[in-house]
Amino acid sequence: MKNTITIGIQWGDEGKGKIVDLLAPEADVVARFQGGPNAGHTLIIGNQKTVLHHIPSGILHHNTLCLIGNGTVLDAVELRDEIRLLEDSGVPVAERLRVSDRCQLILPYHRALDAAREVARGAGRIGTTGRGIGPCYEDKACRRGIRLCDLNSRNLDERLERNLKLVNFMLSEYLNAEPVSRDTVEEALALARQHVLPLAADVPMLLHQQRRAGASILYEGAQGTMLDIDHGTYPFVTSSNTVAGAALAGLGVGPNAVEEVIGVAKAYMTRVGAGPFPTELYNAEGMNHAAGKHLAEAGHEFGSTTGRPRRTGWFDAIVTRHAVRINGITSLAITKLDVLDGLEEVKLCTGYILNGRMLEYIPADAAAFAACEPVYETMPGWQQSTYGVTNADQLPQAARHFVQRIAELCEAPVSMISTGPDREHICHL
Ligand code: IMP
Repeated sequence: MKNTITIGIQWGDEGKGKIVDLLAPEADVVARFQGGPNAGHTLIIGNQKTVLHHIPSGILHHNTLCLIGNGTVLDAVELRDEIRLLEDSGVPVAERLRVSDRCQLILPYHRALDAAREVARGAGRIGTTGRGIGPCYEDKACRRGIRLCDLNSRNLDERLERNLKLVNFMLSEYLNAEPVSRDTVEEALALARQHVLPLAADVPMLLHQQRRAGASILYEGAQGTMLDIDHGTYPFVTSSNTVAGAALAGLGVGPNAVEEVIGVAKAYMTRVGAGPFPTELYNAEGMNHAAGKHLAEAGHEFGSTTGRPRRTGWFDAIVTRHAVRINGITSLAITKLDVLDGLEEVKLCTGYILNGRMLEYIPADAAAFAACEPVYETMPGWQQSTYGVTNADQLPQAARHFVQRIAELCEAPVSMISTGPDREHICHL
């Protein structure tokens, strides 16, 4: 396997976990470079469903080394629970997982701030996962974050005291919320010392050694390009860079460490949380187009981290092409094609109308993007089941045309089509 980045190129939940899991047996190392427990990668092996939040999806392959890079934010309680869940199901973790000692720690006050800010935003809320992601990255940028390597530092007490003073002032004076006690923070730190610190390592050095030994490395993205803090639908985004370029800074490798970039996209779109979504058809707030309902139901579209119903809509080729360009995508993995089975017609968005003008790009301003009316290309659907098909030649002709058209519009070849949740449900092209 070539050294490959696998990332989501819509609004997250594209099915990256499955694609990484498929590629992982050929990889010596699987590494995560951004995000934290806001991610939820669902893996289905046999009848067992496993949701990973921090740990790279490669962990289920017993010879793979899994790394969590400095670009991520870590919640020690969640990570401990994930390790336990895997070890209880017979997956050895401790000897195969290493965490960068430069990782930022998510502490209880980050979650408290995340929740209180969302309440204060009212109708303008972002719809975050509530995992403290934004406030943790904010502390990193403000240079007051606590990293894994700080856990035994002599000035930790003093820094925590300063942080708590500031956070509790914001919580009680501005956000009308309960302050966070020092004891709660100490408990989280004790867990981090016990369960995460033993896994701490110099991840760039490990990667350097692996690369010198000729290892193949799979870089695993979280969230999706449209949630990138610079290239997504700001401010309705997450707080990290989710694009392929972030793999380098988030792990400590150079551009020559990567040969391929696989963009994972569903055969339709979904989004959780607030923000513009021009091709939206269906949501919990009452938008109820029949095809959107079909996508939500047939696709079991509920958030794997929060359980929230996902908003659904037609495939947006403008969004996906934007992602192909800014990530340097070398091939596409199209997931959940089988969810479209049975629809009379299927649509692809090929442009937007904004103020009477045709656009073929995404306006930077979220309000302008939200006002865009999609322009569709309509194609015949297919009534045959594609569920579990493993040879693209056996797909109905209409489904093959649909995928070909995605490749043309997005300016990237399709290398995989996923036709069901299992590892085996895949066509390689
Ligand atoms: P945060 O990352 O919790 O701050 O949430 C910011 C936005 O990103 C919200 O709209 C979330 O729903 C969305 N988001 C964060 N992580 C994921 C993910 O893994 N999948 C899909 N959406 C996500």
